[in-house]
Amino acid sequence: MKKEKKGKQDRAGSSFEQMSKTRKLESIFLFVTGKCNAKCKMCFYADDMDMKEADLTFEEMRKLSETAGEFNRLWLSGGEPTLREDLPEIIEMFYKNNKVKDINMPTNGLKPDRVVEWVKRLRQSCPDCSITVSISLDGFGDTHDTQRGVPGNFYKAIETMQKLTENFKDDKKVLKNATTVITRYNVDEVLDFMMWMFGRFDTSTHTIEAARGETREDGVKVLTESSLKKLQDEMAPIYSAYADRMVKDDQGMRKFMTKFFFLGLIRTLYDVRASNIDKPTPWGMDCTAGETTLVVDYDGRFRSCELREPIGNVKDYGCDVMQIMHGEAMKNEVDEIGYGDKANCWCTHGCWIMSSIIFNPKKMIAKVFKGYRQTKKLSKPLTFEESFLQGLEAKYNLDREKLQKLNIVK
Ligand SMILES: C[S@@+](CC[C@H](N)C(=O)[O-])C[C@H]1O[C@@H](n2cnc3c(N)ncnc32)[C@H](O)[C@@H]1O
Ligand code: SF4
Ligand code: SF4
Repeated sequence: MKKEKKGKQDRAGSSFEQMSKTRKLESIFLFVTGKCNAKCKMCFYADDMDMKEADLTFEEMRKLSETAGEFNRLWLSGGEPTLREDLPEIIEMFYKNNKVKDINMPTNGLKPDRVVEWVKRLRQSCPDCSITVSISLDGFGDTHDTQRGVPGNFYKAIETMQKLTENFKDDKKVLKNATTVITRYNVDEVLDFMMWMFGRFDTSTHTIEAARGETREDGVKVLTESSLKKLQDEMAPIYSAYADRMVKDDQGMRKFMTKFFFLGLIRTLYDVRASNIDKPTPWGMDCTAGETTLVVDYDGRFRSCELREPIGNVKDYGCDVMQIMHGEAMKNEVDEIGYGDKANCWCTHGCWIMSSIIFNPKKMIAKVFKGYRQTKKLSKPLTFEESFLQGLEAKYNLDREKLQKLNIVK
């Protein structure tokens, strides 16, 4: 649907809007490789990887970095980022040229030592940057391996989490995130799994995504609005536990504000997501895809967000990010996405919902406040006692010897 001009004028109208965050490029989602060493049943990128095009070269990435100006977040993706041999150099280049403050490195966790080695290097070379390592962990043992199509992947992924914990225990700039994509394979155990992850590891947080897009296997998406809402309500106490872990060294106002925003934002994100699982439903704010975000596929195709079709190739723009962001194709794309309730493009993608909340503070602050109160209401004390955790390990047939060897249990 075409955006109406009125909507555009409304957005810049009030003085509050002018005070709020200016919309400019905030995040680049860079698919650093189309190669992967897993065969996940729910992967939304399988068709793209199957095209087997060449990855962008370091030189092409250098041009992207040199033309992007300063921006805050570099979200890596793929394919499996740890298979891109020059990834540390790529990150260092964006740190130096673009002053990125946050790097998100997702990984399937099949290369624990490489992840630790690279994060160590990046903590030296990019000292002011936060590095979030998001380890894909989709369920206990066999569930994870089945969903990921790789026998033994579960123990490798938890080894990655454990090694990160051991090596960066007191480093607040290294965040250890578990990410779970909910499918028919893990939907019945996801709550147990989140509890176990919290109890056994020093995870910074645990994000869930509802499987979206074109998946490698049909029929993996099973959530409905009501089942997702129920699940999210049941997760609320776990998020409260994460909030407490997050602020354990903080005091006073800082402690309150950190918890308020973490719990309020997560709940707002989850509400928006649940209302979009059955059918596209307006978010209550503009999606800022294409204005604040740019997605670059491994072969140079680019998009406004991960779910929309490519609208060009960076190589046709001399890899110049400013030309891409201000070019006709992106302008048309932003028009197509539309604004406010007039738009017709809504989805469940957590990254874009979260980033759009930040760029719509006036519209969303009341929802964040409501979300915080709802989560507080749903919270209850949880137990992570040894007997409870061992019960879960028995229930899901985890190999105790392997857990001991990895130093996860005594
Ligand atoms: C495309 S992967 C790339 C990084 C790495 N290969 C991995 O799996 O962690 C990035 C993230 O997308 C998630 N993902 C894959 N397919 C998905 C889908 N259909 N819906 C939502 N998230 C998905 C993965 O689990 C991972 O957390
Ligand atoms: S989700 Fe990640 S690990 Fe799995 S197939 Fe896709 S890119 Fe590879
Ligand atoms: S609503 Fe979703 S699919 Fe539409 S532009 Fe935003 S992120 Fe992309």
